[in-house]
Amino acid sequence: MRASLREATAAVHERLHQAPPFLAIAQQRLGRCEYADLLGTIARFHFTIAAGLRLDGARQELLRDDLRALGVPLPTPVGWPAPATAAAKLGSAYVVEGSALGGKVIYRQLDYLFGPSVGGRRFFRGSASDAERWRSLCRRLEVEGQGDGALDELIAGARRAFSLFQALLVEPAYARA
Ligand code: HEM
Repeated sequence: MRASLREATAAVHERLHQAPPFLAIAQQRLGRCEYADLLGTIARFHFTIAAGLRLDGARQELLRDDLRALGVPLPTPVGWPAPATAAAKLGSAYVVEGSALGGKVIYRQLDYLFGPSVGGRRFFRGSASDAERWRSLCRRLEVEGQGDGALDELIAGARRAFSLFQALLVEPAYARA
């Protein structure tokens, strides 16, 4: 199930790697203000989705810490109708939890901006509980993806979550709505 989800969302995931702020981090040229804007967008995504899916709040707490450290106001969630079925919800949760994997890469890429400091990038570093949450989500994918049509629902939920992130990233008007 996980491999199917990864494959079905590979194109949109790859587009994110090429999105200007992430590319600029990879190339060590995103400035502090732009980084703060990016973190605000990421926080809006997480606050929006977590409200719809009732996700564990540990990563959101790290986001709040980072936003405070950078002096960025807490963003408000946007209107995002949560997926209707349990499988589609799980597909959206896959995107949220999976992003912690890439976050660890981004954390290291940010050395150029933060030096030895952690404050402002704790969200990307993540915490000890990430690995177990990810394993537990992957177990649920394999079990709950077995039902009739469940894989399609998982994929639809994952795509919706990626689309929300993409929309927040590239359409500031939507982010402010
Ligand atoms: C440019 C920014 C990003 C980079 C460099 C990145 C990088 C990565 C890497 C290296 C992995 C694999 C980690 C591993 O298997 O150990 C991964 C997985 C994943 N990332 Fe990203 N990512 C980025 C942005 C995002 C964003 C913004 C999201 C979602 C909103 C996301 C969602 C996911 C998901 C769902 C997985 C799990 C894929 C799987 O099933 O293995 N990523 N990412």
